[in-house]
Amino acid sequence: MTASPVISATGLFTPPESISNEELVESYNAYAKLHNERHTDSIAAGEVEALEESSTGFIEKASGIKSRYVMAKEPVLDPEIMAPRWDDRGNDELSMMAEIGVKAARQALERAGRKPEDVDAVLCAASNMQRPYPAIAIEIQNALGIDGFAFDMNVACSSATFGIQTAADYIRSGNAKSVLVVSPEITSGHLNWRDRDSHFIFGDVATAVLVEAKDIAPQGHWDILGTKLKTVFSNNIRNNGGFLNRAHPDTRDAPDKLFVQEGRKVFKEVVPMVSAMILEEADKLGIDPHGLRRLWLHQANAGMNRLIAQRVLGHEASDDESPTVLDTYANTSSAGSIIAFHKHNDDLAAGDTALICSFGAGYSVGSVFIRKT
Ligand code: COA
Repeated sequence: MTASPVISATGLFTPPESISNEELVESYNAYAKLHNERHTDSIAAGEVEALEESSTGFIEKASGIKSRYVMAKEPVLDPEIMAPRWDDRGNDELSMMAEIGVKAARQALERAGRKPEDVDAVLCAASNMQRPYPAIAIEIQNALGIDGFAFDMNVACSSATFGIQTAADYIRSGNAKSVLVVSPEITSGHLNWRDRDSHFIFGDVATAVLVEAKDIAPQGHWDILGTKLKTVFSNNIRNNGGFLNRAHPDTRDAPDKLFVQEGRKVFKEVVPMVSAMILEEADKLGIDPHGLRRLWLHQANAGMNRLIAQRVLGHEASDDESPTVLDTYANTSSAGSIIAFHKHNDDLAAGDTALICSFGAGYSVGSVFIRKT
């Protein structure tokens, strides 16, 4: 008999420092002013473009974002740096992604009443890894003292839901009984803080989801009713950063080596793709989408979530039906829907059916229908 996968618990690590829109815009505008002053002649000659100011009003209206957490506030806000900076760590020290991943994972284990030795596998599912190898997941596994296997996986903003389906499949096949899906997202390292169109988008965080076989799960777990993944190639969200950059010293620091997007196109193309997939999957699983108690959607843009929720639920969603964490966390890539789930699930009752859904670069969409027990 195949085992049924459930979500036993989640964990969250939030960095201690945050940046408000006001602080962010002040720093960007200082940078833009400096840039314009330093290039007065080439701007006048039409060789360099003058930079326009950013505005808090635009950011909040266009995205719903009011603030974001970061691992290194000062250098990000310094108009002469505009990027995170930290000291290199020795090979005998825990790397940064592993460190915050371990913190989120420990909380998930505690909440489930689980010891590390009960866990069989660790997936580090995130939109960027700080090094190619050894896998961050194996470092997390080692730091926690887990006997088993671990590997990294990257499906950009959908990494966590793709990780949940992968973990669920290990449970279904009997290859594992307890799997940690850890998503440390240090997005501040691949956001271009000098790009007016996107400098406000991202924040740092780490989440963990413990996926287990139902027969060992703690009380109050969530049955996984069905998972569905979809990818369709698109260049509209792209990051050309990577280990081969070194081959081209002239272009290795070019803006395309960080996050770039065609935000309007993403908005227009992803909303119908996500809504259609959720409705198709609900139909296959015999779930009435209008009866879904809550949607924990990917946290990229408040307007996108409003439209998707409306198409799925058949009416305009209240904050209770489709909670947001964009205001405080901004877009945290794959961790967004998991933060929303982590912070807004205690009040649901046994029998309530709900949905975790992520979407983003690739394009990629991952949906996880769950029911509270
Ligand atoms: N401050 C002030 N004005 C700004 C600005 C800023 N920081 N950034 C852009 N603008 C201006 C633009 O110059 C443009 O001006 P124009 O009309 O005079 O040309 C105007 O605001 C509209 O810009 P646009 O980029 O079309 O805004 P938008 O309404 O599409 O909102 C996003 C931008 C990025 C918030 C939005 O497109 C989005 O969230 N898309 C989905 C992104 C997504 O989910 N990505 C996945 C990432 S994982």
